[in-house]
Amino acid sequence: MNLKWTLLLACCFIMTHCKNGQEPKTLIPLSDMAIHTFEIKDPHSNANFNEVVVKHLDWKAEVDFDQKKIKARAEWTIENKTEATKLILDTKGLAIESVYLNGDQETTYTLLDGDKLFGQPLVIDIQNNTKTVTIQYQTSEHAAALQWLSPQQTHDKEAAFLFTQSQAILARTWLPCQDGPGVRFTYNAEVNVPKGMLALMSAVNPVKTNETGIYSFQMDQAIPSYLMALAVGRMEYQALDHHSGVYAEPGMLAKSAAEFVDLPSMINKAEEMYGPYRWGQYDVLVLPPSFPFGGMENPRLTFATPTIIAGDQSLVSLVAHELAHSWSGNLVTNSDWEEIWINEGFTVYFEHRIMEALKGREYSEMLASLTYQELIEELDAMKADGQWADTKLKVDLVGRDPDEGLTGVPYNKGYLLLRKIEETVGRDKWDGFLNTYFSTYAFHSMNTETLIGLLEEFLISENKAIADSLQLRQWIYEPGLPSNAPVPSTQRFLAIDELTKQWLDKGELTQVMKASSQWTTHEWLHFINNLPKDIGIDPLMQLDAAMALTQSTNAEIQAAWYQLCIVNQYEEIYPYVEEFLVEVGRRKFLTPLYKALMQSETGAVWAEKIYKQARPNYHPVSYQTIDQIVPWK
Ligand code: BES
Ligand code: ZN
Repeated sequence: MNLKWTLLLACCFIMTHCKNGQEPKTLIPLSDMAIHTFEIKDPHSNANFNEVVVKHLDWKAEVDFDQKKIKARAEWTIENKTEATKLILDTKGLAIESVYLNGDQETTYTLLDGDKLFGQPLVIDIQNNTKTVTIQYQTSEHAAALQWLSPQQTHDKEAAFLFTQSQAILARTWLPCQDGPGVRFTYNAEVNVPKGMLALMSAVNPVKTNETGIYSFQMDQAIPSYLMALAVGRMEYQALDHHSGVYAEPGMLAKSAAEFVDLPSMINKAEEMYGPYRWGQYDVLVLPPSFPFGGMENPRLTFATPTIIAGDQSLVSLVAHELAHSWSGNLVTNSDWEEIWINEGFTVYFEHRIMEALKGREYSEMLASLTYQELIEELDAMKADGQWADTKLKVDLVGRDPDEGLTGVPYNKGYLLLRKIEETVGRDKWDGFLNTYFSTYAFHSMNTETLIGLLEEFLISENKAIADSLQLRQWIYEPGLPSNAPVPSTQRFLAIDELTKQWLDKGELTQVMKASSQWTTHEWLHFINNLPKDIGIDPLMQLDAAMALTQSTNAEIQAAWYQLCIVNQYEEIYPYVEEFLVEVGRRKFLTPLYKALMQSETGAVWAEKIYKQARPNYHPVSYQTIDQIVPWK
């Protein structure tokens, strides 16, 4: 057969194939997506990474629990792109002791005046032949990335504990670095900790406590500073399969491992959809309860709150989320914090896809419906609070704490946009795009403009109907939710709405009780979140008597239920709220509960009393937020 005939037959084959809707999975050949690079301007870093950039870190540290300090030596290998004579690093509260070039050549430096948000730029004099810059330094007692826990503040109450939380701009409080997500480096570390403790980092990790207290780490894949992480304490490891496992305090290990049995299949599902997991090992570290976030996607070692250990695996979508960051965020990284929706929106979308693959569409649709409702309520609140401009996907954070951009918008509006794209162009095509996107841009930065260019080039350009129905720029650059936004919905929630209505109309709880014996955590959350905000004390007492919601041990249900009770001043339950707030330091739960308490006079008295007791247990990330809500001095 000659070439002409072969081509003709191939075309016929493709055409009939596509007509039958059986398009091949990856539609865009990898080689077709070019890497667009762009100059990074980071409003939250003083570092001069466009002139001299750090490439590798050799970190030697001693963790001193008595003084609550890390004493360290950071040796940076640099690449001087512009014959610059100064290297500028971000620092915040670090005591700098000395700086050397190429190992042994002492050099001069200035620590510029401090900025409350962004810290003190460390300006180091370098020379043409400078290959490495070594900084000897100590952290301060107030380092906001670090939480030093007494034994009493841990789960097992047997040994002290330290963990870091670097995102967004807190790495500079424990490491002089170019502290923006647009700079990547590899690292080695040697960390000296008290004997009997284990040290873990976002790197290749030990699985056992050793006798020396000295641990070595290696991270050969370049990561940005916000993914630098360290945890030190009494911890043990349990493998789940050959490349995933769980670390926790000994008393939490069995429960944690049981909760995460599905982790290996989550990883498989993720890889089937969006390409190989690129980081080798994937472990989860279950931290003491004061961890201020739900989870943090530190490479190779997700940090997680123990509040997801519900005993019934009902909150493990959080691990799917952090796992998904191994692609969206850790491989393809937002170029600066105004672009955070590129990390979080893609990750929520990917999280839901993992959960759908694992548990089915109805399950993932319950997750999506819950967050949809949260988003709608948050958008209303942001409008009322004059924060409407922050409901754009791309936010203006110049001169502001990147924390201010950390609303539900980049997460859930971001998710809805990606779901909208999927629904508009079709799942196969969209998955093909994402696959290519993750592999092409792995270990690169992404920003909104580059992303729009890619979406237009590969999914939109030749099809005006798609462009018209998407309204991409409105989604990204305008506040609020566009009218074409998808609305997640599930029969299981609609059925609950019906039962709730009947109960509230007729006062007869039997049907709710009968149905609820089969409810999952997500159905409970939908039920609680959709009760009238001003429901009043009697129905709450009726519910509590029948279903003991106040005694729930599921942190999500507790938080939702307590909030509703507080708003309705159902004060009998306040001692339970107190116990919860003293124990748990996860900011997502603290903020709405303290806010609700502060709305009434009696509530405010409780809030102040509770906060006084609880504040010393909280991580700086959490107490800096709650300080704005509850008077505490
Ligand atoms: N990377 C974020 C946490 C984060 C974002 C910390 C920005 C500091 C600044 C993490 O992946 C995350 O989103 N965690 C969520 C859980 C998730 C299931 C929505 C959290 O902690 O609540
Ligand atoms: Zn996230």
